[in-house]
Amino acid sequence: MGKHILLLGAPGAGKGTQSKRLASEFDLEHVTTGDALRANKDMDISDMDFEYDTPREYMESGDLVPDDVVNEIVKTALQEADGYVLDGYPRNIEQAEYLTEITDLDAVLYLDVSEEELVERLTGRRVCDDCGANYHVEFAPPEEDGVCDDCGGELIQREDDTEETVRERLTVYHKNTEPVVNHYRDEGVLVEIDGEQTPDGVFDDVAEVVEDA
Ligand code: AP5
Repeated sequence: MGKHILLLGAPGAGKGTQSKRLASEFDLEHVTTGDALRANKDMDISDMDFEYDTPREYMESGDLVPDDVVNEIVKTALQEADGYVLDGYPRNIEQAEYLTEITDLDAVLYLDVSEEELVERLTGRRVCDDCGANYHVEFAPPEEDGVCDDCGGELIQREDDTEETVRERLTVYHKNTEPVVNHYRDEGVLVEIDGEQTPDGVFDDVAEVVEDA
């Protein structure tokens, strides 16, 4: 049976970067609520009686999308996966409790990165509008300015990577998601990784844990 890996970290800690590589090298499904919600951001949730009518409005304000919407996405994705690396979930204690009900975990990793570095990484991130490849204007620039190395697509800034929304996302993270990190730490299952090394350096540490899981 494939491994069940959970990758935790603040916005910009490198969860997406590491998860993609883990999924490819360990033959795991990459389950990411951020990408799933971006692909469904105009989904009509008006009949569910929430504050907003689509995920887009929550995401652009830096707030969390309601648990009922996200829990359903995760449950379906995990049921379909043999092994997986889960990224972007759980984001609050309620989601963590739900996760415990629907699956078991072989490893829980936390990418530790300072706040100053997080802001720099997110505001400098560029993504390919066609294939989703990830760049950074300074740390991982494309060969040609504004053009994806992989597919030639246009590189854009994510709508929630403006400085104002990044600050709000970090506030939401401290309030809602840090308690989730503390919960796994208190359970004694959290493996903390220095997320401020180069992407290759972080991957070496992450891969060592996953190999032994
Ligand atoms: P989501 O897409 O999950 O965003 P996030 O958690 O804020 O994480 P990011 O994807 O922004 O960052 P990352 O850690 O993956 O970093 P990356 O590898 O790209 O969520 C977006 C929104 O969706 C939320 O705000 C919320 O509204 C909603 N949502 C999602 N999940 C939800 C849930 N469970 N419940 C409710 N709502 C939910 O790296 C960042 C940058 O740094 C890149 O440019 C990269 O090139 C660079 N970089 C990476 N590693 C390094 C390194 N080692 N050194 C230097 N640069 C690096």
